[in-house]
Amino acid sequence: ISSSIAGPRFDCLPEPNGNQGACEARGCIWKEDDSGKNAPWCYFKDGVGYKLDSQQGTTYNLRKNNGPSNPWGADSTEIKLTTKTIGSVLNVKIGIDGRYEPPVDFPRETQSSDESLVLSTSSSNDIFSFSVVRQSSNRKLFDTSIGGLIFSDQFIQIATYLPSENMYGWGENTHQSLRHDFTKYLTWAMLARDQPPNSGSLDTMNLYGVHPYYMILEPDGKAHGVLIINSNAQEVTTAPGPSLIYRTIGGNLDMYFFPGPTPEMVTQQYLKFIGKPFLPAYWALGYQLSRYGYKGLNEMKTRIQAVRDAGIPIDIGVADIDYMQRYKDFTTGDDWSGFGDYVKTMHSWGMKLILIFDPAIEATYPSFQRAIAANAKFIEWESQSQVQTSIQNLYPMAKDTKIMLGVVWPDNHVAFPDFLDSTNNTQNWWINEFVTYQSQVAFDGIWIDMNEPSNFGTNQAHPWYFDSDDHPDDAPLFCPTNGSNLWEMPPYKTRAVWRFGDASSEAFLSTNTLCMLAQQDGGKQRFYNVKNLYGLTEAIHTQKALFKATGKRGAVVSRSTYPSAGRYAGHWLGDNTARWEDLRTSVIGAQEFNLFGIPYVGSDVCGFIGTTTEELCLRWQQMGAFHSFFRNHNTIGAPAQDPAVWPSVSAATKQANLFRYQYLPYLFSLHFAASQNGGSVIRPVFFEFPTDAETFNLGYEFMWGPRILVAPVIYQGTTSVNVYLPTDQWYSLFDYKYGSVISPGYTTVPAPTTSRIPVFVRGMSVIPRQTPSTTTTATRQNPFELLIAPCQMGKGLGTLYWDDGETIVNDFNSHDYHQFDFVYNTTTTGGLLTINHSRKSSTISLPTLDIIEIFNYPKAPNFRSFTINGKAVNINVQKSTYSGITKTLYISTVG
Ligand code: NOJ
Repeated sequence: ISSSIAGPRFDCLPEPNGNQGACEARGCIWKEDDSGKNAPWCYFKDGVGYKLDSQQGTTYNLRKNNGPSNPWGADSTEIKLTTKTIGSVLNVKIGIDGRYEPPVDFPRETQSSDESLVLSTSSSNDIFSFSVVRQSSNRKLFDTSIGGLIFSDQFIQIATYLPSENMYGWGENTHQSLRHDFTKYLTWAMLARDQPPNSGSLDTMNLYGVHPYYMILEPDGKAHGVLIINSNAQEVTTAPGPSLIYRTIGGNLDMYFFPGPTPEMVTQQYLKFIGKPFLPAYWALGYQLSRYGYKGLNEMKTRIQAVRDAGIPIDIGVADIDYMQRYKDFTTGDDWSGFGDYVKTMHSWGMKLILIFDPAIEATYPSFQRAIAANAKFIEWESQSQVQTSIQNLYPMAKDTKIMLGVVWPDNHVAFPDFLDSTNNTQNWWINEFVTYQSQVAFDGIWIDMNEPSNFGTNQAHPWYFDSDDHPDDAPLFCPTNGSNLWEMPPYKTRAVWRFGDASSEAFLSTNTLCMLAQQDGGKQRFYNVKNLYGLTEAIHTQKALFKATGKRGAVVSRSTYPSAGRYAGHWLGDNTARWEDLRTSVIGAQEFNLFGIPYVGSDVCGFIGTTTEELCLRWQQMGAFHSFFRNHNTIGAPAQDPAVWPSVSAATKQANLFRYQYLPYLFSLHFAASQNGGSVIRPVFFEFPTDAETFNLGYEFMWGPRILVAPVIYQGTTSVNVYLPTDQWYSLFDYKYGSVISPGYTTVPAPTTSRIPVFVRGMSVIPRQTPSTTTTATRQNPFELLIAPCQMGKGLGTLYWDDGETIVNDFNSHDYHQFDFVYNTTTTGGLLTINHSRKSSTISLPTLDIIEIFNYPKAPNFRSFTINGKAVNINVQKSTYSGITKTLYISTVG
């Protein structure tokens, strides 16, 4: 490290409000840092670590050395490092047998790779260290010779040098750049919390989900990924070196290294291991209109009608908690009578309904009664003596139980279903509630919210809701926060207690959630350990509920996620604010969630909190049209912001949505491939160009699979985009010079509000499309089209996957679908297209292929010379055109 700070500093006082006295009392060094690197002022003396005691095969027995001990509990004297390979994946596990491990059923499927990773160890000065080495380049991908290994019951730390500063991932946090910053010490918290992203300032706070996963692009363009299976409250520090310091307050360090070597291969390997993403129903890729605060069904109808009347493609109406009777799941509010009939009407239009459900169940009404009768479990106190009896005694059905009652939207206290219940009573009850309710209001998809789980006012004597009209009588939940409570008040509480990054307002781990000492599965699991799995476990059983209730695949979207959540649900990026900064960070967030294996992701289009503007909403609609989960959503009290509110937004949304609907066969095929084989849908540009340094931090452009690049407008008042196109053949797909070749490098392209945002297709592509209508249901009946964008050699490739759009996929081998592989080749006399129908369904009918659009077609065609599978195509010459300027050939095959 070249600066006034010599060597790495391991923070010895990462808690808020540190001072020299407290530092020295810990036996650590206090030295201010004026290097601008934000280095810790209180740091450990040298020598923290473990030494090698003995080795048996691939097990290394480590013993605490004579170096400094940690201030957060007794250092474990003996720990073990074990290593094994699972296919091409290298596992390095450090810890103690029998300690908590996350109860997550990862498939751990592997994919072969030409690359292999090996462990190498060394010992010097009483310190054992290891590195993970990529054999082909001999590069150290992980190198703990930096020191700093600490292992104690509730404080674990590992540090490493990194091979490059091109690191991506870790979450869930708001990242203002795609690539992380190593110029200074920055600590990012990871603990699932109901915490809206603050994109306005650098904010390292923990948001809704936890993803201990990163990818690094090495200096030679090879990439690897690292997963740490740990579900406790944790944090990561990016530091000069470049180096990384990871801390967690429970479990073991169970690390998995994925060798790549390409970024997309890393993603495939990672997703095969944690679980490949679910395949959304086709309609779930349609446009969604939502808001919080509809006054009743009539308002929802009016807004949906306005969008339909404007001719804007829309598939999905979404109802937030307003539809419920006083926010109780599985009930319908008085102002929503006729909801069931309206859903039938929506269905007759080819539209679908997604409904929100919160996990918290009000403690008085029939759903709760049925849960108790079914012996379902709720999150509990550890002993009867801890129960807040003044609250519990208000609820006859909860009285004499250990249920930990909290406060969310309903008028009375609520209980939190225990999705880890190994008797399955809870899960069965949950599924039944959905099945029953779906027979009244025939929803097609499920939105699960507040599942960190969120609880209002925990530990606050005067919570905000006391001043609002909502349930002012509900006494808040208080967790025992005396110093002797090791779950609530562990020796180290992580960055998650630094609220808003502000040392002056310390929070608790239980802030906005339940008490850490709570228990699940009849005392077998401690909330302190499993809290971060709540959203995942809810998603698992909610997907089952959706399947059982509808018999179809639909879509579940979840606010809280953990690795493998993508198997069961998608995600939206939470309660953003109607600001340009938030539009920008959502472009990055969607790419990150694709790294995390949750490709069905998007943001609240036009912004959730606050009042949007016409221009912001327009630009957000244009960008959001390229996110898989595409939903305009707004908070209660904010003015309506559906696109029909402004003629300009309406026109731009119509244009953007028609483009999306036209290209949905391509987007769907990307999802299909990701579901079948693992991989991303939206991906950072560097995924495709890993040796082009210009792409390494290009967070505001992104790719739709390997073939389409999107450059959204993300700054106020701008009507052009300075787009970077890596070296390749590129064609314009937006109004500006449609079909023409655009040179690589930086180009400023016009992007007026009246046209589509800049989109480019890469040479070597055959893109399946479909003539768009205003629902996906109608669009699916329209003719197919192909867009051919050849490389300089005149070639193109592509694939279309096509199923009925809604049958549940149990196994791709037996799933009913079509697959078409396209190969294009230009010859001196014309175009040759080969279509290989490599997988056939006998039941799913297919629209005809009526339009073929070809860029860079060499010369005015003799239409007879265009062949598909060796046969001349029957061309409608009147409807077919050729432009000598853009060299675009447009073939209509309709006779
Ligand atoms: C919080 C969610 O993040 C938001 O999208 C929703 O509108 C509100 N809860 C009300 O359900």
